[in-house]
Amino acid sequence: MRASFFFPFGRIATALLATALAFGAQETERRKEQADDADLAYLLSNKDLQALGERLFFDKELSTPPGQACAACHGPEVGWTGPDEQVNKTGVYPGAIHERFGNRKPNSAAYATLSPLFRAKWEKGKVQFLGGNFWDGRATGYKLGNPAADQAQGPFLNPVEQNNPDAKAIVERVCRSDYAPLFKKVATEVWAIPDVSKEPDVDLAYGIVGIAIAAFENSEKVNQFSSKFDAFLKGKAALTVQEREGLKLFEGKAKCAGCHVSKRGPKGEHPLFTNFTYENLGAPRNPQNPWYKMDAEFNPDGPSWVDPGLAGFLKKTPQYAMFAPENFGKHLVPTLRNVDQRPSAGFVKAYGHNGYFKSLGGIVHFYNTRDVLPAAESVSDAKPGVNCWPKPEAPQNVNRAEVGDLKLSAEEEAAVVAFLKTLSDGYQASEGEREAHAANSGRSGKEKGAAK
Ligand code: HEC
Ligand code: HEC
Repeated sequence: MRASFFFPFGRIATALLATALAFGAQETERRKEQADDADLAYLLSNKDLQALGERLFFDKELSTPPGQACAACHGPEVGWTGPDEQVNKTGVYPGAIHERFGNRKPNSAAYATLSPLFRAKWEKGKVQFLGGNFWDGRATGYKLGNPAADQAQGPFLNPVEQNNPDAKAIVERVCRSDYAPLFKKVATEVWAIPDVSKEPDVDLAYGIVGIAIAAFENSEKVNQFSSKFDAFLKGKAALTVQEREGLKLFEGKAKCAGCHVSKRGPKGEHPLFTNFTYENLGAPRNPQNPWYKMDAEFNPDGPSWVDPGLAGFLKKTPQYAMFAPENFGKHLVPTLRNVDQRPSAGFVKAYGHNGYFKSLGGIVHFYNTRDVLPAAESVSDAKPGVNCWPKPEAPQNVNRAEVGDLKLSAEEEAAVVAFLKTLSDGYQASEGEREAHAANSGRSGKEKGAAK
């Protein structure tokens, strides 16, 4: 019923939006190393704001009850996503009230500040969405100028996360913290607020909290660009034969780079391994997601809940609501930087918006064989990933053009995984690697140039 209402309306709206977008096309093509405008770029690189944001990010007092910082779901040692191995085995994190769970796996808080403002663009004959933060893009950046700054205001007040009553409560706690002087300093120096603890405009004070966290997330401590692959791009490290093979497949036969961009931007910007668009890979539902068992107060659909992804946000946004059906089940393409960052070799991480996948090998095998193995429902002894794949969580709008039957051999899958492992920040060449590279670059400078 809804669809018949949406479709005719959708076409008229598509034409109108396409015209509007044609004028803004140049703007939407812009790639950014930094925030959307100069003032904001200044804020996000301000050292005091970054230092304040770091304290806020790790402050366990900013939850109700106290005990849960942003870092509880975004640990540096795992690439700024979920640091609790037991939780990763299910995929979804409990909030400050431990019986409450959210419905998705935490994305990485690193490189999130580099996502452009959420917007529509006209491409390949249709309206496509890009930018924003969260799997569904709902942290648009429209409020504070950067998606990650808007995002940072969310968890503190989310009842299934840090569960605080209101923004005022957060501002008051920050004013009582041991880093309150830093909060006062930036409020005075940057915003000319004489004493932020007496500031009647709570929105303004809470805005500073959001921007400070984004400034930290934008700092070199979080957006490090210090992986082996970064060193390789600078000609300071050599990839192994297998890693090189993986890179070649990533950019070629395996088609990964179509969404997870691996080349530098036009102005030499670091590759971010995402194009910030939205896609439905047809990933299975994660039956272990505790959300299915949450009270109707939070999850009225119970076990039959299906993650609408981007459509959930579009539906609530009047100017885009008519595009909800064609975006049902689509999720933000995540960066692949730090996908293999983990505290120890066997440490389990969860992948995908619902944490269904537990290993890089597993998700690469899914990309390779989703449309090759039979449906789990049709085999008697179902072993997902071995002799079948479960049906998609959301069957609508599944990408079948680039994903699902890549014809990679087991060795080729392993090479792609080996390449993904070069994307972890904090790379330090071992003595042996340094020597081999020095010897190598002396001999084959030409090859090195070509690799860039
Ligand atoms: C209880 C766990 C939890 C806590 C606490 C938490 N997050 Fe998250 N975070 C998540 C989940 C889950 C998502 C994905 C949610 C979604 O897409 O709907 C997420 C998404 C994000 C993203 C989006 C990244 C992207 O690329 O879109 C950023 C940035 C982020 N969180 C930063 C923070 C900050 C800053 C705090 C503290 C103010 C915080 N998180 C607290 C679980 C948590
Ligand atoms: C058509 C676009 C597209 C292509 C092509 C693509 N991906 Fe993805 N990738 C996505 C999207 C979208 C997600 C999140 C999907 C979800 O959670 O439902 C994702 C998720 C991932 C994740 C999980 C990351 C995380 O933090 O949870 C990994 C790893 C990954 N992709 C690797 C690859 C590799 C390797 C290839 C090539 C074999 C590839 N992708 C090809 C769009 C794409």
